[in-house]
Amino acid sequence: MAPTRVGAAAVRPALRALAAGCALVAGLAAAPSALAQTAAPPKLKVGFMLPYSGTYAALGSAIENGFRLHAQEQGGKFGGREIEYVRVDDESDPSKAVDNVNKLIKRDQVDVIVGTVHSGVAMAMARAVKESGTLLVIPNAGGDAITGPMCAPNIFRTSFSSWQPAYAMGKVVAQKGHRKIITVTWKYAAGDESVKAFAEGLQTGGGEVVKDLTVPFPNAEFQALLTEIAAAKPDAVYAFFAGAGAVKFVKDYAAAGLNKSIPLYGPGFLTDGTLEAQGDAAQGMFTTLHYADLLGTPRDDAFRLAYAKTWKLQPDVYAVQGYDAAQALAIGFKAVGGDTAKRKELIAAMESAKIDSPRGPFVFSKAHNPVQDIYLRRVEGNVNKSQGVAAKALADPARGCRMASAS
Ligand code: PHB
Repeated sequence: MAPTRVGAAAVRPALRALAAGCALVAGLAAAPSALAQTAAPPKLKVGFMLPYSGTYAALGSAIENGFRLHAQEQGGKFGGREIEYVRVDDESDPSKAVDNVNKLIKRDQVDVIVGTVHSGVAMAMARAVKESGTLLVIPNAGGDAITGPMCAPNIFRTSFSSWQPAYAMGKVVAQKGHRKIITVTWKYAAGDESVKAFAEGLQTGGGEVVKDLTVPFPNAEFQALLTEIAAAKPDAVYAFFAGAGAVKFVKDYAAAGLNKSIPLYGPGFLTDGTLEAQGDAAQGMFTTLHYADLLGTPRDDAFRLAYAKTWKLQPDVYAVQGYDAAQALAIGFKAVGGDTAKRKELIAAMESAKIDSPRGPFVFSKAHNPVQDIYLRRVEGNVNKSQGVAAKALADPARGCRMASAS
């Protein structure tokens, strides 16, 4: 019957429409979970607490550049989460450190803090994150205590301890036959620890420190010290300075004519990232560090090329340390798919990581400090050229570290 037929004909599209509608409704009902699966996860907040002003300003920006380079190589994501950066200039000022680190922890609620250069500031940061539980990766500050008595599951260091390059240099200076040495440094934790570890290495080879000279940080008026060194005529001088202060010290030392008669040694900070500014004054100087220019390995060559292309600058040790901070975090976050709640697994992945560093591969010690080769370098033109390894796979003694288990 027509009506039936018409009806049937009319019903079929109606049913189709209903079926389509049902599918739509079902689709809509399914939408929230489907959306949840495809929506981008929240961004991962990385807080840089670094010196962007003062004597260590160049060090801070090299660290940030190195970090960002590796993050870019990871597509701007760690563990599938896009990275968002927050920056605080710590001015290398320990008196502002607590306020600055709290800005990142409490105000910005970052997932991880990357910082800093100055050991006095870094100690305050380590204390703060021990309380808050925030993950902290230290891309420079060498303060021995940080991976000593203050060691903690949520604190990693991708640089060095003050002890490492200094102890190696003490041995080198003794092997060169120098016996009576004067040390000179800024008066703060990193400088004090550096000269102490140097003396320890020196003593193993029969040398001794006859005088420790200091100036307050970041003072760069060195004339009185240089006059004292000239009068005392030691066999050699060991100096800890870095950044703009290192440029000034090496130039003043040469301008006083001391480099002609009293060789100047130091940890590599004395001549890293500084050579263009130091010019002739630094030529021929020997230093020890966990990095050297032109290592000639495929890994380092690739890093240096990528860094130069990206930033139109040559990398230095600080850039490497920042790059490796990003490498360590990329490994940790990848292991937990970006889920920071899986803290134990994240820390375990970082602890067992082998970092494919431009300096050469390294692993973390139980105290979370790199176990690494220390190179002897010599300044030739604008480079700190490797003379070979002064100390192989050197681990910081981590005196006083009792590592708690991650929770
Ligand atoms: C430090 O304060 O630990 C420090 C600062 C600058 C360096 C090295 C160490 O180049």
